[in-house]
Amino acid sequence: MNAHKIMGNKKESEKVMLEHLKLFVDEYCTAKDNPGIHENTFQKMMDLKTNEVYCPKCRLETRNTKVSIDETKASDQWKDKEKKKYLKKYSIYGGRSFLDKGFKGFGANSKQELEACDKAKAISIDIASGQIANVLLTGPAGTGKSHIAHSMLFNINEMSASYKKQLTCLFIDFTSVMELIIASYSNTATDKKTADYYIDLMKNADVLVLDDLGTDVGTTSTTKQASEHTYKTLFKIINAREGTKSTIISTNLSYDQLKAAYDSRISSRLSMNLKILDFSEINDKRPGFGF
Ligand SMILES: Nc1ncnc2c1ncn2[C@@H]1O[C@H](COP(=O)(O)OP(=O)(O)OP(=O)(O)O)[C@@H](O)[C@H]1O
Ligand SMILES: [Mg+2]
Ligand SMILES: [Zn+2]
Repeated sequence: MNAHKIMGNKKESEKVMLEHLKLFVDEYCTAKDNPGIHENTFQKMMDLKTNEVYCPKCRLETRNTKVSIDETKASDQWKDKEKKKYLKKYSIYGGRSFLDKGFKGFGANSKQELEACDKAKAISIDIASGQIANVLLTGPAGTGKSHIAHSMLFNINEMSASYKKQLTCLFIDFTSVMELIIASYSNTATDKKTADYYIDLMKNADVLVLDDLGTDVGTTSTTKQASEHTYKTLFKIINAREGTKSTIISTNLSYDQLKAAYDSRISSRLSMNLKILDFSEINDKRPGFGF
């Protein structure tokens, strides 16, 4: 072995040695110095590389705590990612024409459209940052209620993690889910999902859009009532969500018609922190209606 190589190795090994060389010193860490970490007194050590004097037990414990904090953070981030997928994974759509458009794709040409859109954006931020609200989007067909409701939900799904916590968001076309629930009773459902599966989905989502509520009721008379089965299903959902989860409803019914159709047990639960977005003066935007 040549001299040069030996010198090189020596320097290397000195470095390694220094990195590992610790000496006990005549200092002690007591249980009182760092409460909760150790009961017995520990002799401190000196790191010969940095001259730092430390208690080995305390250092180890603090490192472990840091690791577990990092682990918790990582697992929270993982959970957030999973929660964010909820919207795509579990939503049930009827029409899909508004799905990828968002607030940006909503042309607000009239005063009412502008107002509804601005209100919807503001409410989305409130909900994303932790407020509980009920929202009713009411007005005739083709005026953009589903479009706006979906935009709100999409934004809440995107924003909530950075405001407070990732909220689970779910879009449900009410007519479709009721059909699936009815099919589940008679075992004609192809995927064997039960009525409770659908109802639990709607009970549990942090933010739920119930799209197109009241299609079975009709808008001609304010005294028309929903069927007993629809009423009971809706009551289970709204009752479970009351006060703890936000619900966004789109409907062709007015608020009064909705109250008449589903009675006060449902409407009084919805009236808590209720925001109404009125689309009644807005024109039909579906292609073929002069848009
Ligand atoms: N202001 C708008 N700007 C751009 N597109 C719009 C606007 N309003 C509605 N649309 C589009 O028109 C179509 C119908 O809108 P949407 O489905 O939201 O109506 P709706 O009010 O929910 O109707 P319905 O009561 O029949 O469910 C969608 O494709 C939607 O993206
Ligand atoms: Mg709609
Ligand atoms: Zn210590």
